[in-house]
Amino acid sequence: MAVTTAGSVSSLVQSLGEIPPDSIVFGRSEAMQALRDRMDKVASANVPVLIQGESGTGKDIIARMIHSLSPWKTGPYVKVNCPAIPGTLLESELFGYEKGAFTGAYGTKPGRVEMAHRGTLFLDEISELDLGLQSKLLQLLQDGQFCRIGAQEDKKVEVRVVCATNRKLEAEIENGTFRQDLFYRINVVNLQMPPLRERRGDIEDLAAYFLDYYNRKYNCRARELSADLKASLQKYHWPGNIRELENLIKRYVILGNEDVITGDLVASEREYFNPDINLDGPISLKKLTRQATRELERKVILKVLQAHHWNRKQAARALSISYRALLYKIRDAGLPPNRSSRRRPEPIANQGAAAD
Ligand SMILES: Nc1ncnc2c1ncn2[C@@H]1O[C@H](COP(=O)(O)OP(=O)(O)OP(=O)(O)O)[C@@H](O)[C@H]1O
Ligand SMILES: [Mg+2]
Repeated sequence: MAVTTAGSVSSLVQSLGEIPPDSIVFGRSEAMQALRDRMDKVASANVPVLIQGESGTGKDIIARMIHSLSPWKTGPYVKVNCPAIPGTLLESELFGYEKGAFTGAYGTKPGRVEMAHRGTLFLDEISELDLGLQSKLLQLLQDGQFCRIGAQEDKKVEVRVVCATNRKLEAEIENGTFRQDLFYRINVVNLQMPPLRERRGDIEDLAAYFLDYYNRKYNCRARELSADLKASLQKYHWPGNIRELENLIKRYVILGNEDVITGDLVASEREYFNPDINLDGPISLKKLTRQATRELERKVILKVLQAHHWNRKQAARALSISYRALLYKIRDAGLPPNRSSRRRPEPIANQGAAAD
């Protein structure tokens, strides 16, 4: 997508770029089907929409789809990535300024709000707006008016505002960093993006889509994913959601080798420890502690194996445990027996005592 932050006014208006087919964007899960229904209904009405969801779940894509389905689809689509613009510049970027408004304001400059007239203004990561800018945005949403910095009079603009965030705005309201009245204004319709781990039924189709897409894009011929790798993709927790899956498949297409990404998945899985604590039932501290210890052990073993290029004898020495104990722990932790292996570890009894 052609995006610039400096320069001419027209450069702030963005093209919608490529959007994957609907069947891929929404997949099969019930949560995504419900989201699609909601999006279709709301797109044609000029009401603010708040898109919430973890990073990489597709908020950007949905914002662009809303614009492309709106009555103002031929109008401008203006995205503002709030954290990317330093706080002091954000006000002038958003609302523009008059000549002489501050030192260095040699001319008049319209802001992005104005540029989005009869189109869509997409405010990405809205929680980054400071309280002063939040009240200016509130005024815009309440009566469609805003004031350029240094101007004597308000201006009127017709604009559809779509906001996105990967934070819990409700918590920011409690902290006093986000205005409750603004939250009600931007949250007329809420679209909640499910994380990828809650729509596992779509992982295979998404992976196949990215494989085909990047094979064509990079003129490569990476083969269909093996059953082992597909099974690993199903089990993985996907903290980076669809973006992480896309990058993983891109890496596979470019490197043409599954072993590297299988290793990455295992390493990343071991970094993750998120105990499933059900606060409604009894909690076993003993069990949680045991779980945490096992996780820690896995992480340490993996690090040491990597540091010793998967030479298990050296790793056992470094860990001050016997070679046999290390083999047992590797198997117990579900780690691959050696760097390139994609097979399950063999039973310890079958392995030679000095396998390395
Ligand atoms: N449903 C989807 N189908 C296909 N690709 C998707 C889908 N959702 C996201 N992607 C891809 O994943 C990447 C991240 O998506 P996007 O930028 O929309 O996420 P986001 O929720 O806005 O993330 P962030 O909070 O980090 O800005 C993009 O490259 C996008 O093309
Ligand atoms: Mg985004």
